[in-house]
Amino acid sequence: MTATAAPGLVLYRVEGRVATITVNRPDKLNALDAPTLDGLRAAFERAQGDDAVRVVILTGAGERAFIAGADIAELAELTPLSAAAHALRGQALLQFVEHLGKPVIAMIRGYALGGGCEVAMACTIRIASTRARLGQPEVKLGLIPGYGGTQRLPRLVGKGRAMEVCLVGEMISAEEALRIGLVNRVVPPESLEAVTREVAEAIAARAPLAARFAMEAIQRGVEVPLAEGLRVEADLFGRCAATRDMREGTTAFLEKREPVWEGR
Ligand code: COA
Repeated sequence: MTATAAPGLVLYRVEGRVATITVNRPDKLNALDAPTLDGLRAAFERAQGDDAVRVVILTGAGERAFIAGADIAELAELTPLSAAAHALRGQALLQFVEHLGKPVIAMIRGYALGGGCEVAMACTIRIASTRARLGQPEVKLGLIPGYGGTQRLPRLVGKGRAMEVCLVGEMISAEEALRIGLVNRVVPPESLEAVTREVAEAIAARAPLAARFAMEAIQRGVEVPLAEGLRVEADLFGRCAATRDMREGTTAFLEKREPVWEGR
């Protein structure tokens, strides 16, 4: 089902092969209320459906925040039934992002807290400014992470560290996030856009189906036992051999020229 776009709350821009999706609620530190979640869904559906888009960058408007979490004004009204539905809705969106079939790079400037940290974790790669602050502060609100944080965080940083982040609830610095593996890179604020763009362009220049299959192999691999993951890898390796791009890539190497990818 196609989500209804929320005009202005989520911006969508395409430059070359890279789409940038921007959560645009800077006065609320880009907190995710229901219309913003709908807007995000619509923007990701658009990026998925656009064949020209190879890589997506997700970011937040303004200097202060990537996303400062789910909207606490909405959380305050939750009942047991609506809270479960709220969590399932956020989880479904992030499952969609994680399985988009195209790499999504979270460009993190400022706060990535609660739902914001969870959104970042559903992205393929996270690049943070030195000024970024990440964390799962839900425990301070009498809550736990509800958009997949209790599940994705230990998978990224290990169980003990995930326990500490979720139980203490304090923000961690970008450097600490890098040290524990929560983000891939930390760069000065003034280089954040350029570095993110560079990584996006580097990925966009590779064979698109190979990138998709590699993501699928890694994603499924972390969810299943090793033997099953290896089978998934072998099957996807086989599917690569069915692509024209694999013929092109190997032939171009042997002919000492640059490959021209068709995405087929
Ligand atoms: N939901 C709703 N509104 C939020 C929000 C959230 N998660 N995070 C920030 N805001 C709003 C504030 O209410 C404030 O709105 P107002 O100007 O209408 O009062 C505005 O964004 C600016 O935030 P403010 O708290 O004034 O900025 P600060 O610099 O003093 O503090 C934070 C920044 C990030 C430390 C603080 O906003 C915060 O703790 N936010 C909540 C983080 C959180 O718990 N997220 C997880 C939710 S599950």
